[in-house]
Amino acid sequence: MKKILITGGAGYIGSHTAVVMAEAGLIPIILDDLSNSSESVIDRLEEIMGYKPIFYKGDCNDSSILNKIGKEHQLAGVIHFAAFKAVGESTQEPLKYYQNNLGSLMVLLDFMKREGIQDLVFSSSCTVYGQPDVLPVTESTPRKDAESPYGNTKKVCEDILVDYVKSKAEVRVISLRYFNPVGAHPSAKIGELPNGIPNNLVPFVTQTAAGLREKLTVFGNDYDTSDGSCVRDFIHVMDLADAHVKALNYLGGQSANFYDVFNVGTGHGNSVLEVVETFENVNQLKLNYEIGPKRPGDVVQIWADTKKINKILGWFPKYSLEDSLRDSWNWQKTLK
Ligand SMILES: NC(=O)c1ccc[n+]([C@@H]2O[C@H](COP(=O)([O-])OP(=O)(O)OC[C@H]3O[C@@H](n4cnc5c(N)ncnc54)[C@H](O)[C@@H]3O)[C@@H](O)[C@H]2O)c1
Repeated sequence: MKKILITGGAGYIGSHTAVVMAEAGLIPIILDDLSNSSESVIDRLEEIMGYKPIFYKGDCNDSSILNKIGKEHQLAGVIHFAAFKAVGESTQEPLKYYQNNLGSLMVLLDFMKREGIQDLVFSSSCTVYGQPDVLPVTESTPRKDAESPYGNTKKVCEDILVDYVKSKAEVRVISLRYFNPVGAHPSAKIGELPNGIPNNLVPFVTQTAAGLREKLTVFGNDYDTSDGSCVRDFIHVMDLADAHVKALNYLGGQSANFYDVFNVGTGHGNSVLEVVETFENVNQLKLNYEIGPKRPGDVVQIWADTKKINKILGWFPKYSLEDSLRDSWNWQKTLK
Protein backbone atom coordinates (compact mmCIF):
# COMPACT_ATOMS: atom_id res chain seq x y z
CA MET A 1 0.00 0.00 0.00
CA LYS A 2 1.39 3.36 -1.03
CA LYS A 3 2.19 5.97 1.61
CA ILE A 4 1.31 9.55 0.71
CA LEU A 5 2.47 12.57 2.72
CA ILE A 6 -0.37 15.04 3.32
CA THR A 7 0.94 18.41 4.46
CA GLY A 8 -1.81 20.35 6.22
CA GLY A 9 -3.65 17.06 6.65
CA ALA A 10 -5.33 18.08 9.93
CA GLY A 11 -7.04 20.98 8.12
CA TYR A 12 -10.42 21.13 6.43
CA ILE A 13 -9.69 19.72 2.98
CA GLY A 14 -6.66 17.65 4.05
CA SER A 15 -8.57 15.70 6.71
CA HIS A 16 -11.35 14.75 4.29
CA THR A 17 -8.73 13.76 1.74
CA ALA A 18 -7.08 11.48 4.31
CA VAL A 19 -10.41 9.65 4.66
CA VAL A 20 -10.94 9.25 0.93
CA MET A 21 -7.32 8.17 0.44
CA ALA A 22 -7.63 5.51 3.10
CA GLU A 23 -10.83 4.24 1.44
CA ALA A 24 -8.87 4.01 -1.82
CA GLY A 25 -6.18 1.87 -0.17
CA LEU A 26 -3.54 4.59 0.24
CA ILE A 27 -1.84 5.27 3.59
CA PRO A 28 -1.98 8.94 4.61
CA ILE A 29 0.99 10.31 6.56
CA ILE A 30 -0.06 13.67 8.00
CA LEU A 31 2.27 16.59 8.67
CA ASP A 32 0.60 19.62 10.22
CA ASP A 33 1.82 22.33 12.58
CA LEU A 34 -1.77 22.80 13.87
CA SER A 35 -1.52 26.55 13.19
CA ASN A 36 -5.10 26.43 11.87
CA SER A 37 -6.37 23.08 13.12
CA SER A 38 -6.57 20.88 16.17
CA GLU A 39 -5.00 17.55 17.07
CA SER A 40 -8.50 16.30 17.94
CA VAL A 41 -9.01 15.97 14.16
CA ILE A 42 -6.56 13.06 14.21
CA ASP A 43 -8.73 11.27 16.81
CA ARG A 44 -11.80 11.98 14.70
CA LEU A 45 -10.04 10.50 11.70
CA GLU A 46 -9.38 7.37 13.73
CA GLU A 47 -13.12 7.10 14.45
CA ILE A 48 -13.92 7.34 10.75
CA MET A 49 -11.01 5.33 9.32
CA GLY A 50 -10.84 2.63 11.96
CA TYR A 51 -7.16 3.26 12.62
CA LYS A 52 -5.19 6.28 13.79
CA PRO A 53 -3.40 7.93 10.88
CA ILE A 54 0.31 8.50 11.30
CA PHE A 55 0.68 12.11 12.40
CA TYR A 56 3.70 14.39 12.72
CA LYS A 57 3.26 17.78 14.37
CA GLY A 58 5.64 20.08 12.57
CA ASP A 59 6.21 22.89 10.13
CA CYS A 60 6.53 22.11 6.46
CA ASN A 61 9.18 24.86 6.23
CA ASP A 62 11.37 22.77 8.52
CA SER A 63 13.42 20.36 6.43
CA SER A 64 14.49 18.37 9.52
CA ILE A 65 10.94 17.13 10.18
CA LEU A 66 10.56 16.29 6.50
CA ASN A 67 13.86 14.37 6.59
CA LYS A 68 12.66 12.47 9.65
CA ILE A 69 9.46 11.49 7.86
CA GLY A 70 11.48 10.53 4.77
CA LYS A 71 13.68 8.24 6.89
CA GLU A 72 10.75 6.59 8.60
CA HIS A 73 8.55 6.08 5.53
CA GLN A 74 8.97 5.20 1.89
CA LEU A 75 6.74 7.90 0.38
CA ALA A 76 5.11 7.42 -3.02
CA GLY A 77 3.85 11.00 -3.30
CA VAL A 78 2.84 14.22 -1.60
CA ILE A 79 -0.30 16.33 -1.43
CA HIS A 80 0.57 19.85 -0.37
CA PHE A 81 -2.33 21.53 1.44
CA ALA A 82 -0.30 23.35 4.10
CA ALA A 83 -0.73 27.10 3.64
CA PHE A 84 -2.30 30.12 5.27
CA LYS A 85 -5.58 30.98 3.56
CA ALA A 86 -7.22 34.04 5.13
CA VAL A 87 -7.52 36.60 2.33
CA GLY A 88 -8.10 39.57 4.66
CA GLU A 89 -5.22 38.68 6.98
CA SER A 90 -2.93 38.30 3.97
CA THR A 91 -3.42 41.98 3.13
CA GLN A 92 -2.42 42.89 6.73
CA GLU A 93 0.51 40.48 6.99
CA PRO A 94 1.68 39.74 3.45
CA LEU A 95 5.15 38.53 4.46
CA LYS A 96 3.67 35.89 6.73
CA TYR A 97 1.75 34.57 3.71
CA TYR A 98 4.64 34.71 1.26
CA GLN A 99 6.98 33.06 3.77
CA ASN A 100 4.66 30.21 4.61
CA ASN A 101 2.94 29.55 1.31
CA LEU A 102 5.94 29.98 -1.01
CA GLY A 103 8.58 28.84 1.49
CA SER A 104 6.87 25.58 2.36
CA LEU A 105 6.49 24.64 -1.30
CA MET A 106 10.18 25.18 -2.01
CA VAL A 107 11.33 23.32 1.10
CA LEU A 108 9.03 20.48 0.10
CA LEU A 109 10.33 20.34 -3.48
CA ASP A 110 13.90 20.16 -2.17
CA PHE A 111 12.90 17.34 0.15
CA MET A 112 11.20 15.46 -2.68
CA LYS A 113 14.34 15.78 -4.78
CA ARG A 114 16.56 14.45 -1.97
CA GLU A 115 14.22 11.51 -1.40
CA GLY A 116 13.52 10.82 -5.06
CA ILE A 117 9.77 11.35 -4.59
CA GLN A 118 8.20 12.27 -7.91
CA ASP A 119 4.51 12.88 -7.44
CA LEU A 120 2.97 16.07 -6.09
CA VAL A 121 -0.58 17.37 -6.01
CA PHE A 122 -0.73 21.07 -5.17
CA SER A 123 -3.71 22.99 -3.72
CA SER A 124 -4.36 25.92 -5.99
CA SER A 125 -7.48 28.01 -6.25
CA CYS A 126 -9.93 29.56 -8.69
CA THR A 127 -8.79 32.85 -7.18
CA VAL A 128 -6.05 32.81 -9.86
CA TYR A 129 -8.75 33.65 -12.46
CA GLY A 130 -9.94 36.82 -10.68
CA GLN A 131 -13.17 38.03 -12.35
CA PRO A 132 -12.99 36.17 -15.66
CA ASP A 133 -14.20 37.83 -18.86
CA VAL A 134 -15.85 34.64 -20.13
CA LEU A 135 -17.75 31.98 -18.16
CA PRO A 136 -17.39 29.17 -17.38
CA VAL A 137 -13.63 29.25 -16.84
CA THR A 138 -11.47 26.61 -18.46
CA GLU A 139 -7.92 25.85 -17.41
CA SER A 140 -6.69 27.99 -20.30
CA THR A 141 -8.69 31.04 -19.22
CA PRO A 142 -6.02 33.68 -18.61
CA ARG A 143 -5.06 34.19 -14.99
CA LYS A 144 -5.54 37.74 -13.71
CA ASP A 145 -3.52 39.87 -11.32
CA ALA A 146 -4.26 38.61 -7.83
CA GLU A 147 -6.59 40.68 -5.64
CA SER A 148 -4.69 39.77 -2.45
CA PRO A 149 -1.30 38.52 -1.28
CA TYR A 150 -2.98 35.17 -0.54
CA GLY A 151 -4.24 34.92 -4.12
CA ASN A 152 -0.83 35.89 -5.37
CA THR A 153 0.81 33.08 -3.38
CA LYS A 154 -1.32 30.57 -5.31
CA LYS A 155 -0.38 32.15 -8.62
CA VAL A 156 3.32 32.30 -7.78
CA CYS A 157 3.30 28.71 -6.45
CA GLU A 158 1.85 27.59 -9.77
CA ASP A 159 4.62 29.54 -11.56
CA ILE A 160 7.28 27.97 -9.33
CA LEU A 161 5.97 24.52 -10.24
CA VAL A 162 5.88 25.32 -13.96
CA ASP A 163 9.46 26.64 -13.89
CA TYR A 164 10.65 23.69 -11.83
CA VAL A 165 9.16 21.17 -14.25
CA LYS A 166 10.61 23.14 -17.18
CA SER A 167 14.05 22.70 -15.62
CA LYS A 168 13.69 18.97 -16.38
CA ALA A 169 13.21 18.13 -12.71
CA GLU A 170 12.13 14.51 -12.28
CA VAL A 171 8.71 15.32 -10.88
CA ARG A 172 5.11 14.78 -11.90
CA VAL A 173 2.89 17.58 -10.65
CA ILE A 174 -0.79 18.47 -10.79
CA SER A 175 -2.17 21.77 -9.55
CA LEU A 176 -5.84 21.48 -8.64
CA ARG A 177 -7.70 24.78 -8.82
CA TYR A 178 -10.43 24.42 -6.21
CA PHE A 179 -13.62 26.40 -6.59
CA ASN A 180 -15.58 26.88 -3.32
CA PRO A 181 -15.24 23.91 -0.97
CA VAL A 182 -18.26 23.38 1.29
CA GLY A 183 -19.88 20.57 3.26
CA ALA A 184 -18.41 18.11 5.71
CA HIS A 185 -17.94 14.37 6.13
CA PRO A 186 -21.44 12.82 6.23
CA SER A 187 -20.63 11.35 9.68
CA ALA A 188 -20.30 14.96 10.98
CA LYS A 189 -17.07 13.91 12.76
CA ILE A 190 -14.88 16.29 10.75
CA GLY A 191 -15.61 19.53 8.92
CA GLU A 192 -14.48 23.11 8.52
CA LEU A 193 -13.21 24.78 11.72
CA PRO A 194 -12.99 28.50 10.99
CA ASN A 195 -10.73 30.52 13.23
CA GLY A 196 -12.70 33.56 14.49
CA ILE A 197 -15.19 35.23 12.16
CA PRO A 198 -15.56 33.00 9.10
CA ASN A 199 -14.30 34.37 5.79
CA ASN A 200 -16.40 31.97 3.77
CA LEU A 201 -20.15 32.05 3.19
CA VAL A 202 -21.25 28.61 4.39
CA PRO A 203 -19.55 28.63 7.81
CA PHE A 204 -21.06 32.08 8.31
CA VAL A 205 -24.47 30.69 7.38
CA THR A 206 -24.17 27.72 9.76
CA GLN A 207 -22.85 29.88 12.61
CA THR A 208 -25.74 32.29 12.13
CA ALA A 209 -28.23 29.43 12.16
CA ALA A 210 -26.57 28.18 15.35
CA GLY A 211 -26.97 31.60 16.98
CA LEU A 212 -23.23 32.26 17.14
CA ARG A 213 -23.61 35.21 14.72
CA GLU A 214 -26.53 37.59 14.88
CA LYS A 215 -27.17 37.76 11.16
CA LEU A 216 -25.69 37.04 7.77
CA THR A 217 -25.06 39.99 5.48
CA VAL A 218 -25.47 39.31 1.76
CA PHE A 219 -23.11 41.75 0.11
CA GLY A 220 -25.07 43.23 -2.78
CA ASN A 221 -28.28 42.17 -4.55
CA ASP A 222 -28.08 44.29 -7.68
CA TYR A 223 -25.23 42.63 -9.53
CA ASP A 224 -25.86 41.50 -13.07
CA THR A 225 -26.64 37.91 -12.01
CA SER A 226 -29.85 35.84 -11.95
CA ASP A 227 -31.01 37.26 -8.59
CA GLY A 228 -28.51 40.08 -8.11
CA SER A 229 -26.25 38.33 -5.57
CA CYS A 230 -22.77 36.95 -6.28
CA VAL A 231 -22.40 33.52 -7.86
CA ARG A 232 -19.91 30.78 -6.96
CA ASP A 233 -19.28 27.13 -7.76
CA PHE A 234 -19.77 25.24 -4.47
CA ILE A 235 -18.07 21.87 -4.39
CA HIS A 236 -18.61 19.28 -1.64
CA VAL A 237 -15.37 18.68 0.24
CA MET A 238 -15.71 14.89 -0.18
CA ASP A 239 -15.87 15.30 -3.96
CA LEU A 240 -12.88 17.62 -3.79
CA ALA A 241 -11.01 15.05 -1.69
CA ASP A 242 -11.75 12.40 -4.30
CA ALA A 243 -10.17 14.58 -7.01
CA HIS A 244 -6.84 14.27 -5.16
CA VAL A 245 -6.94 10.48 -5.28
CA LYS A 246 -7.81 10.59 -8.98
CA ALA A 247 -4.96 13.06 -9.58
CA LEU A 248 -2.45 10.79 -7.80
CA ASN A 249 -3.60 7.78 -9.80
CA TYR A 250 -3.22 9.72 -13.01
CA LEU A 251 0.26 10.97 -12.12
CA GLY A 252 1.34 7.35 -11.65
CA GLY A 253 0.80 6.77 -15.38
CA GLN A 254 2.80 9.79 -16.58
CA SER A 255 6.45 9.98 -17.50
CA ALA A 256 8.83 11.89 -15.22
CA ASN A 257 8.82 15.64 -15.78
CA PHE A 258 5.11 16.31 -16.06
CA TYR A 259 2.86 19.24 -15.12
CA ASP A 260 -0.83 19.86 -15.57
CA VAL A 261 -3.62 21.85 -14.00
CA PHE A 262 -7.30 20.99 -13.43
CA ASN A 263 -10.35 22.90 -12.26
CA VAL A 264 -12.26 21.19 -9.46
CA GLY A 265 -15.82 22.47 -9.29
CA THR A 266 -19.30 21.24 -10.11
CA GLY A 267 -19.58 23.16 -13.36
CA HIS A 268 -22.61 25.06 -11.99
CA GLY A 269 -22.88 28.46 -10.37
CA ASN A 270 -25.18 29.10 -7.41
CA SER A 271 -25.94 32.53 -6.07
CA VAL A 272 -25.50 33.52 -2.45
CA LEU A 273 -29.28 33.93 -2.13
CA GLU A 274 -29.80 30.44 -3.59
CA VAL A 275 -27.44 29.08 -0.94
CA VAL A 276 -29.46 30.81 1.79
CA GLU A 277 -32.75 29.48 0.40
CA THR A 278 -31.42 25.95 -0.13
CA PHE A 279 -29.93 25.93 3.37
CA GLU A 280 -33.30 26.95 4.84
CA ASN A 281 -35.22 24.36 2.83
CA VAL A 282 -32.94 21.40 3.33
CA ASN A 283 -32.54 22.00 7.06
CA GLN A 284 -36.09 23.26 7.72
CA LEU A 285 -35.08 26.48 9.45
CA LYS A 286 -35.06 30.23 8.93
CA LEU A 287 -31.89 32.21 8.62
CA ASN A 288 -31.58 35.77 9.84
CA TYR A 289 -30.04 37.70 6.97
CA GLU A 290 -29.99 41.17 5.47
CA ILE A 291 -28.86 42.70 2.23
CA GLY A 292 -25.81 44.91 2.70
CA PRO A 293 -23.65 47.03 0.40
CA LYS A 294 -21.42 45.47 -2.22
CA ARG A 295 -17.89 44.67 -1.07
CA PRO A 296 -15.13 46.24 -3.13
CA GLY A 297 -13.01 43.63 -4.90
CA ASP A 298 -15.63 40.83 -4.77
CA VAL A 299 -15.68 38.62 -7.84
CA VAL A 300 -19.24 38.92 -9.16
CA GLN A 301 -19.60 35.46 -10.59
CA ILE A 302 -17.46 32.46 -11.38
CA TRP A 303 -17.97 28.79 -12.06
CA ALA A 304 -15.83 26.08 -13.54
CA ASP A 305 -15.74 24.35 -16.86
CA THR A 306 -15.01 20.82 -15.66
CA LYS A 307 -14.72 19.00 -18.99
CA LYS A 308 -10.98 18.52 -18.61
CA ILE A 309 -11.07 16.86 -15.19
CA ASN A 310 -14.16 14.82 -16.19
CA LYS A 311 -12.46 13.50 -19.30
CA ILE A 312 -8.83 13.09 -18.24
CA LEU A 313 -9.09 12.16 -14.57
CA GLY A 314 -12.51 10.51 -14.86
CA TRP A 315 -13.65 12.62 -11.92
CA PHE A 316 -17.28 13.67 -11.46
CA PRO A 317 -18.91 15.25 -8.40
CA LYS A 318 -21.41 13.01 -6.59
CA TYR A 319 -22.78 15.39 -3.97
CA SER A 320 -25.39 18.14 -4.56
CA LEU A 321 -25.62 21.60 -3.02
CA GLU A 322 -28.40 20.20 -0.80
CA ASP A 323 -26.01 17.48 0.44
CA SER A 324 -23.34 20.07 1.13
CA LEU A 325 -25.62 22.35 3.12
CA ARG A 326 -27.14 19.47 5.09
CA ASP A 327 -23.69 18.08 5.93
CA SER A 328 -22.37 21.54 6.88
CA TRP A 329 -25.30 22.06 9.24
CA ASN A 330 -24.97 18.58 10.78
CA TRP A 331 -21.30 19.35 11.42
CA GLN A 332 -22.10 22.77 12.90
CA LYS A 333 -24.58 21.19 15.32
CA THR A 334 -21.79 19.05 16.77
CA LEU A 335 -19.82 22.23 17.58
CA LYS A 336 -22.47 23.86 19.76
N1 LIG B 1 -10.93 26.27 1.77
C1 LIG B 1 -10.95 26.97 0.65
O1 LIG B 1 -11.89 27.72 0.37
C2 LIG B 1 -9.81 26.85 -0.34
C3 LIG B 1 -10.02 27.24 -1.67
C4 LIG B 1 -8.96 27.13 -2.57
C5 LIG B 1 -7.73 26.65 -2.17
N2 LIG B 1 -7.56 26.29 -0.86
C6 LIG B 1 -6.24 25.80 -0.43
O2 LIG B 1 -6.38 24.47 0.01
C7 LIG B 1 -5.43 24.21 1.05
C8 LIG B 1 -6.14 23.65 2.25
O3 LIG B 1 -7.14 24.57 2.65
P1 LIG B 1 -8.08 24.31 3.90
O4 LIG B 1 -9.35 25.02 3.64
O5 LIG B 1 -8.09 22.88 4.24
O6 LIG B 1 -7.28 25.13 5.00
P2 LIG B 1 -6.97 24.76 6.53
O7 LIG B 1 -6.41 25.97 7.15
O8 LIG B 1 -8.16 24.13 7.16
O9 LIG B 1 -5.84 23.64 6.36
C9 LIG B 1 -4.50 23.96 6.16
C10 LIG B 1 -3.71 23.20 7.20
O10 LIG B 1 -2.33 23.47 7.00
C11 LIG B 1 -1.72 23.65 8.27
N3 LIG B 1 -0.51 24.45 8.01
C12 LIG B 1 -0.41 25.73 7.58
N4 LIG B 1 0.89 26.06 7.40
C13 LIG B 1 1.62 24.96 7.72
C14 LIG B 1 2.99 24.66 7.71
N5 LIG B 1 3.91 25.56 7.35
N6 LIG B 1 3.40 23.42 8.07
C15 LIG B 1 2.48 22.47 8.44
N7 LIG B 1 1.16 22.69 8.46
C16 LIG B 1 0.74 23.93 8.10
C17 LIG B 1 -2.77 24.30 9.15
O11 LIG B 1 -2.57 24.05 10.52
C18 LIG B 1 -4.04 23.62 8.63
O12 LIG B 1 -4.33 22.44 9.39
C19 LIG B 1 -4.69 25.52 1.29
O13 LIG B 1 -3.50 25.51 0.54
C20 LIG B 1 -5.66 26.55 0.75
O14 LIG B 1 -4.99 27.71 0.34
C21 LIG B 1 -8.57 26.36 0.06
